[in-house]
Amino acid sequence: MDQIVSDYHTHVKSGFTPLPVAIAKSKNSTLWDVNGKEYIDFLSFFAVANMGHAHPKIVEASCKAIQECPLVNTALINPSYAELALKIEKILGYSRIVCMLSGADATDTATKIARKWGYLKKGIKEDEAFVLTTSACYHGITISTHSFSSQKHNLFGPYVPKVGSISPSGVYVEFGDIKSLEEALEKDGDKIAAFMVEPIQGSAGIVDPPIGYLNKAFKLCKKYNVLFIADEVQTGLGRAGALLKSWDDDVKPDLVCLGKGLGGGVAPLSAVIGNPEVMDILDLGDIGSTMAANPPATAAACAALDVLIDERICKQSIEKGEIIKKLLLNGKLDGIKDVSGSGMLRAVVLNPELIDDKFNGSRIAKYCALKGLIVNSAAGGTRIRLCPPPTIDIKDLEKGVNIFLECVSTVKEIEDPIL
Ligand SMILES: Cc1ncc(COP(=O)(O)O)c(C=O)c1O
Repeated sequence: MDQIVSDYHTHVKSGFTPLPVAIAKSKNSTLWDVNGKEYIDFLSFFAVANMGHAHPKIVEASCKAIQECPLVNTALINPSYAELALKIEKILGYSRIVCMLSGADATDTATKIARKWGYLKKGIKEDEAFVLTTSACYHGITISTHSFSSQKHNLFGPYVPKVGSISPSGVYVEFGDIKSLEEALEKDGDKIAAFMVEPIQGSAGIVDPPIGYLNKAFKLCKKYNVLFIADEVQTGLGRAGALLKSWDDDVKPDLVCLGKGLGGGVAPLSAVIGNPEVMDILDLGDIGSTMAANPPATAAACAALDVLIDERICKQSIEKGEIIKKLLLNGKLDGIKDVSGSGMLRAVVLNPELIDDKFNGSRIAKYCALKGLIVNSAAGGTRIRLCPPPTIDIKDLEKGVNIFLECVSTVKEIEDPIL
């Protein structure tokens, strides 16, 4: 494994700071590295494996598509793309869909749709349509989606204008703070085409908004004729407990961005879904990508949605999410201040008073990996993201939590390098 890790670091650039563990096999909530060492997966590759890794029905559907007709793009018609559209309508109630590949593609696409809607339907002046986001949001890191962030890297500018968490006249919209959103909409509602928000902020470290925030935000959007875009790339499809997390706050977004779990953890697929009032402004050629909605991905997604319903992934997520929270807090460790999130989208908030060079998320994640558990350090090492596949066996869930608690308790005594 050392050679692989060394080759990787010499030749592969960027990515999301991988732990030095080369994975060769996966099944439900278990990963195996190239040496055959087993790991319990409490990360799901950033909340992707909502139906478990390598679910046989999803793998079979995707493999069948690969064998029979691996590529049909929108030069012609992919039958399982149409099938997927109907399944989405049946399950989520939106009758229009456009698919892309990554989550960033979806949020970028939603921005295009919102701007076009802003000009055609809301009457916003040319080149003025603004898409408002919130502080600490994460909608991807391509140039357009990174432009939404409140913290941008200096060396990639200039960024895309008229997007982000600062409204046209300068109101800073804080995630969870309804007053700042109200002020922004009051001042600049005529220029704002859409408000895009994560129902739980994922990459920020699984940060929950106050209860009722989304509902109030949605009502404000309606008041100011602003589209409400729910970025459910991370929260959706059972991950946070509901089919769409926004529904928990009684919100029916105008547009929903999906990704991650949509391809069942087997193939890359993302989507923007909505209803005809908004989506029918799209013309041919407006949105697309050569490889988007390819048959192995759409077939995987159709199977994944079947599994989502048949195996009651939302119920599993809610029930096991409560179990994991309880087990983590029952340990009553000084190092653990709280557990955030819902369903199987969770984070342990580390006690800020204890965080130092020896006790932080990065070291805990490494130590857990050494002990056979995969977790992810988030929010600069102050939180640890825990999002096991909702299909995980309870015994593995308990075993994983025990490893985690042991690592939190003893990491201070461990010398570097841990891995
Ligand atoms: C809420 C949200 N939106 C968008 C994205 C971007 O997705 P991708 O990494 O597939 O581009 C992510 C990724 O973590 C996300 O959590």
